[in-house]
Amino acid sequence: MTSRRSKKITVVGAGKYGSTTAQRLAAMDIADEVVMTDIVDGLPQGLALDMNQSRPVERYRTRVIGSNGFEETAGSDVGIITAGLARKPGMSRMDLLAVNAKIVRQVTRELVDRSPDVTIIVVTNPLDQMTVLAAEVSGLPRHRVMGQAGVLDSSRFAHFIAERLEVDILSVEALTLGSHGATMVPVPSQCFVDGRPLLGMLAPDEIDALVERTRGGGAEIVAYLKTGSAFYAPSSAAAIMARAILTDEGRVTPVCAWLTGEYGLTDIYLGVPARLGAAGVEEVVELDLTSTERAGLHAAAAAVRDKVEEMETILRA
Ligand code: 2OP
Repeated sequence: MTSRRSKKITVVGAGKYGSTTAQRLAAMDIADEVVMTDIVDGLPQGLALDMNQSRPVERYRTRVIGSNGFEETAGSDVGIITAGLARKPGMSRMDLLAVNAKIVRQVTRELVDRSPDVTIIVVTNPLDQMTVLAAEVSGLPRHRVMGQAGVLDSSRFAHFIAERLEVDILSVEALTLGSHGATMVPVPSQCFVDGRPLLGMLAPDEIDALVERTRGGGAEIVAYLKTGSAFYAPSSAAAIMARAILTDEGRVTPVCAWLTGEYGLTDIYLGVPARLGAAGVEEVVELDLTSTERAGLHAAAAAVRDKVEEMETILRA
């Protein structure tokens, strides 16, 4: 057997989002260990034991380790932060700002203390602000801290397009940029069905209806579930980002990434297409957006900045 450095992914938080992400990553068989840590006594341990027992059936080797602390996370290559509260019906993601900021600040410190070379994917809401916070607290280079939103939102958009047009889901390519919230920017000009532009297939008001449903895609599921938020599609999104980093895929995907002038925006985290590989965000890809879409990105940036200021005031208090 050739010797190689072992690969480790940590998932912080063993709620529905965290545990489903851990399970998806384990089944991908790309890491030696997936460590799942959570403050609830017994929860990560029990889930890990259960997941590990599916390995002989599913035919993969990755072990999941459940822990209530961070010792086992040491030396992680990728860390996914899911810790924090989820929305209840009627809440916006922004209603979680104060409570989740304190949790994300603490777990980011714990993670980076033991894994100085980690690349972080944040999924805790409000996503854009929590990504800024994790970047600040971690002290890591900005390309090694990112947020998950665009993969999920684009996937929701693709689903709604496929249902509306009654076409094969796999024939649809869709894209959303901007924030993971009210200023999300679905980008119809970059949506295609079997390579053909969506703009030629539906009237503008029909596209607007799909855009609105995508913006409210998370809330629609929260309203059904009542006790929590979505986790199947969100965990798929987080897991493929972790895979792209761990296996140095070079895949281009929408990511909440740090901007240094791209799209005319500087010093801000925002959803943009980016190339993910071993270095984290390796390149922000600049697409040819319409003026409306570009204006939407700038409005999203302004809204994210406002709430980052609010978060910083809360954390100083
Ligand atoms: C969602 O949109 C969890 O924010 C996530 O469902």
